[in-house]
Amino acid sequence: MNVYTINGGNRLYGEIEAQGAKNSALPILAACVLADGESVVENCPRLSDVDNTVEILRGLGCKCERSGSEVTVDASGVCTSAVPDELMREMRSSVIFLGAVLARTGEAEICSPGGCEIGRRPIDLHISALRSMGAEIVRDGDRMLFRAAKLKGCDISLAFPSVGATENIMLAATAAEGITRIHNPAREPEICDLQAFLRAMGARVSGAGGLTIEIEGGHKLHGVRHRVLPDRIATVTYLAAAAAAGGAVTVSGARPYQFSAVSAALREAGCEITERSGRVTLVRHRPLRAIGPVRTMPYPGFPTDAQSILMSVLASAEGSTIFVENIFENRFRHAGELEKMGADICVEGRVAVVTGVKRLRGAPVVATDLRGGAGLAVAALGAEGRTRIEDAGHIARGYEQLDVALRTLGADVTVTEQ
Ligand code: EPZ
Repeated sequence: MNVYTINGGNRLYGEIEAQGAKNSALPILAACVLADGESVVENCPRLSDVDNTVEILRGLGCKCERSGSEVTVDASGVCTSAVPDELMREMRSSVIFLGAVLARTGEAEICSPGGCEIGRRPIDLHISALRSMGAEIVRDGDRMLFRAAKLKGCDISLAFPSVGATENIMLAATAAEGITRIHNPAREPEICDLQAFLRAMGARVSGAGGLTIEIEGGHKLHGVRHRVLPDRIATVTYLAAAAAAGGAVTVSGARPYQFSAVSAALREAGCEITERSGRVTLVRHRPLRAIGPVRTMPYPGFPTDAQSILMSVLASAEGSTIFVENIFENRFRHAGELEKMGADICVEGRVAVVTGVKRLRGAPVVATDLRGGAGLAVAALGAEGRTRIEDAGHIARGYEQLDVALRTLGADVTVTEQ
C-alpha cells in the first residue's frame, strides 16, 4: 500500500472542485444492470472502489469503458448472476449488486460480504426485505444464492434506515409485480440521486429523502446518461483540512445543505464558513474550541463518515468534546493513531472523549480504514513536524488523489510506495 508523508504547519489556501460522490456512483453503477442497454455515468470519481465495481460489472457480462470521469456501461450482455468472491471481499459494498442482479436475472449469488475495519456489517435487513418480496435464499457455506422467479411488491418497514438495504430494495422493486413501499428508509442524498437515476431509466420511484419510498415495478428500463452528485464527505474533508491547518479553503461544485450538520460543528468550533452558489469557503484564523456532544446519526444527522475527520480537527481545540458513534460499533480505531500524535482521547465503547491539546506532533501512524486514514491526514496537516501514514491505500478507496488536492492547497504531502 501507499505511504503518505506530511510535514505539518503550512496554512492552506486555494480552491478545489468537489469530486463525484463515491456512495452515489457505486449504487448507480450497479443499477446500470437493470437496463438492457447502455448508460453513461458522469462525474464518476477515480477511486479503487469504482474500479472494483467496474470489474464486477464486466464479470456479470457488461461492457464497461471509462473516459475521464465518464463510465459507460452496456448491460445488454448480462449473462451471469454471481458476484466474484474476491471482488465481494475486496469491497463489501458490492452487496449493492444483489438487488440489481436479482431484478435483472431472477437470481443473484454472493459470498457473505463479511465485516470490515469499522464493524460487523451484517446484511440481515437486506435479506429479510428480499425474502418478503418473494426471494428464496439458499446458503452454501459462506455463499448465498438468492432466487426469485417473480418478485412481488410489498410494504417493508426497516428496523434501521440502512443505506445499502434501502438501495437494494429500490433496485429489486423495479422488477417486482405491483408496488413496494419502504418505510423508515435511509434519507441520504445518495438515495435521492439513485431515485433520480432510476426515474430517468423509466422506473416509477418516488419519495426518496422522505419517510416512505414507493416503487411501482414492472416497467421496462432503458439506459440513460446521469451526472453523479458531489461527494459531501470528501468536501467536508477538505474544509476540515483548513480547519486543522489554518488558512482559507474553497470547495466549488458542492451542495452545502447536504453537509449542514458538519458545517454547524465546524462553525461552533470557531471556523467561518460562507456558502455562495455551490462554493463553500472555510476560514480559520483563530484557535479552535471544543464543541457540544457530536452524535453520529442517519441523515440528516451528523454523518458517521465525518466522525474521524472532525475528531482530528478537535484533537487540538481548547476544551473537551464528546463523540458518540451510533452507527458503527468499531469506528474509533483512528483514535489510537491520533494518540501517537499526542492527542488526548478516552474511548469507552461507542463514546470517545477528546480533550484538546495545544498542538499535535508528527509521528509514524497507520491508516485503519478509509475515513480514519483521511482523518490522520487532516490531523497531520496541523501537527508540528513530520507524520508518516502507512497503509494509506485505504484513502484511495474514497478520495480522488487526496495528496494532489492537498498540495494544490499548499500542503507539504508526498506519497510513496510502502
Ligand atoms: C453506507 O454503508 C456507506 N457506504 C457508508 O460509507 C456509510 O458509513 C453508511 O452507509 C452509513 O451512512 C456506501 O454507501 C457504499 P448501513 P452501508 O446499511 O449501506 C447496520 C464510507 O466511508 N446494518 O446504513 O453498509 C450496520 O451494521 C462508507 O464511505 C444492519 O444491522 O451502511 C451499521 O451499523 C463506510 N443490518 C448500520 O446499520 C443490515 O442489514 C448502518 O449501516 C444493514 C445495516
